[in-house]
Amino acid sequence: MDSFEYRNGGLFCEEVSLSRIADEIGTPTYVYSRDALESAYMDYARALEGRDALVCFAVKANSNIGVLNLLARLGAGFDIVSLGELERVLRAGGDPAKVVFSGLGKQPHEIKRALEVGIHCFNIESDAELDRVNAVAAELGQVARISFRVNPDVDAKTHPYISTGLKENKFGIDIDHALDVYRRAHALSNVEVVGIDCHIGSQLTELSPFLDALDRLLILIDQLAEEGITLRHLDLGGGLGVCYTDETPPTPADYIAAIVERLGDRELALVFEPGRSIAANAGVLLTRVEFLKQTGEKNFAIIDGAMNDLIRPSLYGAYQEIIPVELREEGEMKNWDLVGPVCETGDFLGKDRALNLQPGDLLAVCSAGAYGFVMASNYNTRTRPAEVIVDDNEYCVVREREKLSDLMRGEHLLPKDR
Ligand code: LLP
Repeated sequence: MDSFEYRNGGLFCEEVSLSRIADEIGTPTYVYSRDALESAYMDYARALEGRDALVCFAVKANSNIGVLNLLARLGAGFDIVSLGELERVLRAGGDPAKVVFSGLGKQPHEIKRALEVGIHCFNIESDAELDRVNAVAAELGQVARISFRVNPDVDAKTHPYISTGLKENKFGIDIDHALDVYRRAHALSNVEVVGIDCHIGSQLTELSPFLDALDRLLILIDQLAEEGITLRHLDLGGGLGVCYTDETPPTPADYIAAIVERLGDRELALVFEPGRSIAANAGVLLTRVEFLKQTGEKNFAIIDGAMNDLIRPSLYGAYQEIIPVELREEGEMKNWDLVGPVCETGDFLGKDRALNLQPGDLLAVCSAGAYGFVMASNYNTRTRPAEVIVDDNEYCVVREREKLSDLMRGEHLLPKDR
């Protein structure tokens, strides 16, 4: 969280104080640092300099078009999983020729649009999906560039909900079946086999699962080459972890160096699909304490941010630091559960956090730039937060706070006579 720091007791994002944003925009609000986003992207780009490579930001991690636009300006590609994400990338000025289309349930209209705009590659996850992509491409008289997402059966050693590379997971094609699918695809007329991909999970804090997966993929790549199926690129997905508390994940540079070493003299372009490692520590969720409520058992701080705004703590038991926006000298530290107004016991953003609180205080929930706003919902008919990007000493609202009228749009009463 390098772009967020205290100055004279107040928390700043770059050159803008978070209190000012809260006063002007209200809370809860997601605040992103342009500098942090760009530096995290550049860590990948720099480590890949001089190589044939593509860094495709995983749009699912943060799909705000303001964010996507900044990355597009730096030359980023994008990893998408839906037509909606593709349209966002296009609106944000992203280059379709740098888009990879992941996800295991692509529909014909989504495939059609992706072919029309000329994406880089479809990452295919099943036999049936191969046939669908081939058929849609044939209808359009096109040849679709494809890669197969192989499930290498390695344990990513992360939370079970975000672990994707084991045989028991729904993702990818069983590595033992992969040769057959490649052979079949090679014989089809409306697809061109160009790559191989895998994504074994998210928030990985060690290199070994990535390298185990890579080793398995390299065996397959070599077998394919012997059969005359020469792949042009290797896409290792996303998954590199970030520091939420005391984790020490490998840097993109270490990760990429280890991969390049394993590749030897194989002439493969590299593709990555990082999401969290680019956006997570570039953002905070700004929220305000409404009430303090102390029971015999617990101290509750009731805040205006809730599980509908940031679901990671409730859904995964994820820990994100929560820090005061203004440091207070008087008063005492106590352990607080930071809970939202939603009617669920699971509605909390943090538990047992040592803080010196008063009603009205502003708090920043850290590392909220990835899988934050994108997973927000309207549960309890709550409007979703605003999003702003700070750029040096200015900030820009890149999503207005939702209005209640937005929430009821498209809803209807039954006709009076029914
Ligand atoms: N590529 C594919 C095919 C993916 O499924 C994902 C994430 C990524 C790339 C990006 O992975 P990253 O670099 O962000 O780890 N909502 C969860 C994370 C779900 C990740 C899903 N797939 C969370 O909040 O922890």
